[in-house]
Amino acid sequence: MADGAMPQGARIGVATPRIDGRLKVTGEARYGSDFAPANTAHAYLATSRVSRGSIVGIDERDARAVPGVLDILTWRNVGAAVKPGATFDQKGYMGSSIAPLASSRIWHDGQIVAVVVADSWEAAREAAGLLNVRYQEQQPSAGFDSPGAETVDAAAVSKEYEDPSVGDAEGAFAAAPVKVEARYSTPTQHHNPIELFTSTCAWTGGKLTIWESSQNVWGYKNGIAEQLGISPDDVRVISPFIGGAFGSRGSLTQRTALIALAAKRLNRPVRLEVTRDQGFTIATYRAETRHHIKLGATRDGKLVSLTHEGWEVTCRPDNYKVAGTDASTRLYACPNVASKVRMVHADRNTPGFMRAPPETPYMFALESAMDELAYALQMDPVRLRLVNDTQTEPIKGLPYTSRHMAECLQTGAKAFGWSRRTPEPGSMREGDWLIGWGCATTLYPAQVAPATARVTLSPQGGVKVQCATHEIGNGVRTALALTAADRLGTPLERITVEVGDSDLPPAPVAGGSNSTASCCNVVAEACEQIRGKLAAAAVAAGDGPFAGTDPSTLKMSAGRLVGPGGKSEPLAKTLARAASGALEAYAESVPHGVPPDSVKGLYKGKPALAGGAKMKDRIQFAFGAQFVEVRVHALTGEVRAPRAVGAFAAGTIVNPMAAKSQLMGGMIWGISAALHEATEIDPRTARYTNDDLAEYLIPVNADIGQIEVIFIPEQDDKVNPLGIKGIGELGNVGMNAAVANAVFHATGVRVRDLPVRMEKLLGGRLLQA
Ligand code: MOS
Repeated sequence: MADGAMPQGARIGVATPRIDGRLKVTGEARYGSDFAPANTAHAYLATSRVSRGSIVGIDERDARAVPGVLDILTWRNVGAAVKPGATFDQKGYMGSSIAPLASSRIWHDGQIVAVVVADSWEAAREAAGLLNVRYQEQQPSAGFDSPGAETVDAAAVSKEYEDPSVGDAEGAFAAAPVKVEARYSTPTQHHNPIELFTSTCAWTGGKLTIWESSQNVWGYKNGIAEQLGISPDDVRVISPFIGGAFGSRGSLTQRTALIALAAKRLNRPVRLEVTRDQGFTIATYRAETRHHIKLGATRDGKLVSLTHEGWEVTCRPDNYKVAGTDASTRLYACPNVASKVRMVHADRNTPGFMRAPPETPYMFALESAMDELAYALQMDPVRLRLVNDTQTEPIKGLPYTSRHMAECLQTGAKAFGWSRRTPEPGSMREGDWLIGWGCATTLYPAQVAPATARVTLSPQGGVKVQCATHEIGNGVRTALALTAADRLGTPLERITVEVGDSDLPPAPVAGGSNSTASCCNVVAEACEQIRGKLAAAAVAAGDGPFAGTDPSTLKMSAGRLVGPGGKSEPLAKTLARAASGALEAYAESVPHGVPPDSVKGLYKGKPALAGGAKMKDRIQFAFGAQFVEVRVHALTGEVRAPRAVGAFAAGTIVNPMAAKSQLMGGMIWGISAALHEATEIDPRTARYTNDDLAEYLIPVNADIGQIEVIFIPEQDDKVNPLGIKGIGELGNVGMNAAVANAVFHATGVRVRDLPVRMEKLLGGRLLQA
């Protein structure tokens, strides 16, 4: 190789097809639901038809008479055998403290009341339907405005939470020359991953193996051990591929321990398959939110006052909240900020993480209000956001590790053709179609968590990367392979990556868009250890070309160790000097701002979601800007969204090909949430009424037009060594508001309650009756 020439190989930043793509498209990839050990029995859940009360009795006679029925678990024979486990906000692993078979109490609709196990799934289902459960029923509270729903201040019930505020928001609002005050709401939504919720459990000699698609295999391992009162060393969780998660598989649900117990009682593997409708109530969801926003500005558009109050529905016993004011108060420069978050306890299953849980609903409110402010000021909405750009966050005055929001707005606007927009609603009409262009800013905290990884270099030069992270569609295997390729100069086809198994070195929960940042950094560290060991051996060797060379100048490239002046030797030769066999490196990495002993917590499967790794002296966010065109039919109110542009500055983009897909997916989901999605609940019974994919509306291909993703180059040397900020949720956050803002521009109708549906537009001034 010529002096200094770098191979055109795989490295960080080169668009690369997924190394596991072939497995996925040929059906060879094995998901958590694809494992069925020999002699597996099948479980079916019986779920409650009442939302509040208790079970008085269960007549099991007809169910037990079904041929093939093996066992029926109810509160009578489970009780204390399964501990409820601590919830995420108590530093545990559970999404809910509601332990369904611990007692006869019913907390919500669709709560598990029995687990029926049989030789076949069909027999288990039939028997479950024949259980005669008698309830003592009480009137449930369904949510906001329901009698009996109880409102509490988030700051009062959570030690770690405080409502961000600074200055005198009320006084500044009263004195502001231009004001906007409005209320917004977002509905209940469910993840509906294509892969149904399943759990398969098998015991071998006191050791439990669980096959279940999971965003947190180490957390599940430790959580199940806690629930069953066994050692985590005796639990293994396997989840090589995940058929959609979006947060629904981040925390442990109560079903898994029940299936483990069923398998133990039968001394036989048991597999549970949860039906689509049961998935609405035995797992988590995004709860409905309400918002009250007050913005005050000077006549040239500078914010002088920002108030954001939020209300969120949660279940009766837990204090799950998302509290997106942490982000919404830190987006724009403003000297006077007030915020308050309240939870409303109702007789519901416990909500949980759902893609960008805090930011998505809270930013809908703020970015809608910013659009209203732009109209009040008669100012272009892109310009309004530029006027309020800042390099220090307003609450504590901390600098961002990097922030290129303005570049995102400018580049995105240009690509979209924003300068051709005429501001007056309805002014861009084409025939019967009212055209609207809307925009919004997006942001997402750049979260990094402690992680561990093992990298092994074989004598033949092959590389193995092992890390118990999770393939949730992010292409993490490819990202880790690119990192190793980048650092070790190894071609991709010589790299294997193992993820999704709690027997591997622990990695954080794949949530909060943290996997690529957390895991690529630790893999790079392990690779650097390997390079260091090889370089040291080469320098120490008396007979090699590198005797006496500074080891830090030696790099690995295309199967050789390369030094200054074009000197090089085959890696195999260096490897032989360094070790007789394979060279292995294990690394632990602890991000800046995290206590050094937090890797210990990782071995306990401790979650590291929002706020898990905050710097004291800086604030870390990725930014973006999103632009949407809608067309609203002037006669019917039908809304189409033919095109959207997103421009994002999210630090190092490890694999631009996968990153583009992921951001595109986030934007599509934003259109979906803005125009289609809502779980309806019957206020009288507190039961979901559209718990299937026929009536829970999501877009099909024909609903999505052109989606353009633009990366704004950004180097961030403060956020973490590789400068990765994460993108999993960033693409989703601004889209709800961008769509609603576009609808206002088209129609003059401001829809403040999502989703935007035609019935909310009919009667608008520009729509013809
Ligand atoms: Mo995501 S809601 O952090 O899985």
